[in-house]
Amino acid sequence: MLKLDLSYAKLNENLNDYQDKVSEAHKWLHEKTGQGNDFVGWVEWPNNYDKEEFDRIIALSEKLQGKFDVLLVCGIGGSYLGARAALEMVKGLYPEGPEVIFVGNTFSNTYISQVLRHIEGKSVVLNVISKSGTTTETSISFRIFKQYIEEKFGKEEAKWRIIATTDKNRGTLKELADKEGYEEFVVPDDIGGRYSVFTAVGLLPLALAGVDIKAMMEGSKLAYEAYKSEKIEENDAYKYAVARRILDNMGYKSEMFVTYNLQLTMIAEWWKQLFGESEGKDGLGLLPSSACFSTDLHSLGQFIQQGQKVLFETLFLIDNMPEDIIFPEDAENLDNMNYLAGKKISWVNEMAMQGTLSAHTEEGGVPNILVHLEDNSAKAFGYMIYFFFKACGMSCYLLGINPFNQPGVEVYKKKMFKLLGKN
Ligand code: PA5
Repeated sequence: MLKLDLSYAKLNENLNDYQDKVSEAHKWLHEKTGQGNDFVGWVEWPNNYDKEEFDRIIALSEKLQGKFDVLLVCGIGGSYLGARAALEMVKGLYPEGPEVIFVGNTFSNTYISQVLRHIEGKSVVLNVISKSGTTTETSISFRIFKQYIEEKFGKEEAKWRIIATTDKNRGTLKELADKEGYEEFVVPDDIGGRYSVFTAVGLLPLALAGVDIKAMMEGSKLAYEAYKSEKIEENDAYKYAVARRILDNMGYKSEMFVTYNLQLTMIAEWWKQLFGESEGKDGLGLLPSSACFSTDLHSLGQFIQQGQKVLFETLFLIDNMPEDIIFPEDAENLDNMNYLAGKKISWVNEMAMQGTLSAHTEEGGVPNILVHLEDNSAKAFGYMIYFFFKACGMSCYLLGINPFNQPGVEVYKKKMFKLLGKN
C-alpha cells in the first residue's frame, strides 16, 4: 500500500549501520521505556482501540445523518489537523454531503465573523475538541459558536447539536460538557494531540462528514503489522527515519514535504505539525516545510533548484487519484496546446513530477525521498498516518529527544496570557 524509494536520496552512510540504535529505540517505543513513555498509547492503538466508543461514534454519525448542513469542528493543532487532512485527501476539496468548517484554530476576528455570517440560516452541529480543555483559540471560538447555537436553536437543542471530545476525567471542557449534558468522547490519556487522529479526535468529525472510519482503522492495523519489525531492512518507517538522520548529518537541515495535488496540502500541514512539534527541541530537529507542485514550482522552485543547499525533499505521491480528465482537442489550436490533446491531466502531472525530480536531484543536487501511496482511500490514509507516526517516534529517539512533549509551545502562551491579563 505504501512504497518508500530512497534511490534519489544520495545517502552517504549505510542504513544498517544504525541498527543497534534503532533496536534500542524500537524497544523504547514498544516496551514504553523511552522518554515520554506515558504517551506511546498510539503504538498499539490499531489493535486495542476502544471498540465500544468506536461503535458509539458510528451510531451517532448515523443518527445525525441528514440532520445538519454544517459541521463546525472546533480545535487546534493535533485536535484538528488530522481530521482536516483526512477529509481533504479522501473526499476532495468540494465534497458532497455536509459542509465541514474548521474553527477554533485562530484568533482571526475576520475569519470568525465570516464563518458566523456564512452559517446563518443553516442547521449546525458543533464538535469541540480539546484534550486539555483550556486552549485559548479553541475556547474563544467555542464560546462564540456555543452562544450562536443556543440563540438560534435553543438550549435544549444545543444538547444534541454540541458534542465534546476531551479528557475522560478532568479539565474545564469536561466539566462544562457534563453540566450542559453534551454527548462526550474521549482523548485517551496516553495519546498526545498530534498522534490522536485514530481516536475520537479524528474519528468523530470524519464519521460525521461521511468518511469510512472502519476502513481507516483497517489501514492503521495493516501498517502496524508492516512496521512492527525492529530490523531496518524489513521496516520502511525505520528506513525513512534513519534516512532523515543521515541527511541531517550531511548538513540538510530542512525537509520539504512535496505533494502534487492541491487536496493533499493539509496532509503536509498535518505532517509539519507531527515532525515540527515532535522533533524541534533542544536546538535539534529538521525544519519541516512544504510545497505543492507544480503550483509552487512557480514560487519556491527557483530556490530549490539554485538556492542554498539546505534542504532535501520528501515527495508524497498518490499513485491512483480518481476523477481524471482528458485534455480536449481544439480545431483552431490558437493556444498551440494540441500537442497534449487526448492526454490525461494525471499524465501531465506525472511528467511534471518526473521532470522536476530529475531537475532537482541531477542538476540541483537536492536529495529526494519518495513515498508512494496506492490511492487516496480512507484505508490508505490510515496506513500512511501510522507509517509517519512510527517514523517520527523513531526519528526523535535517534536524535535523543522526547517525541511526545512540546515545552516550547508554552513560552508564547505565558507571554500572551500576561498581556491578556489572565491569572
Ligand atoms: O500535538 C499537540 O499536543 C498539540 O498540537 C495540541 O493538539 C494542541 O495544542 C491542542 O491542544 P488541546 O487539544 O489540549 O486543545
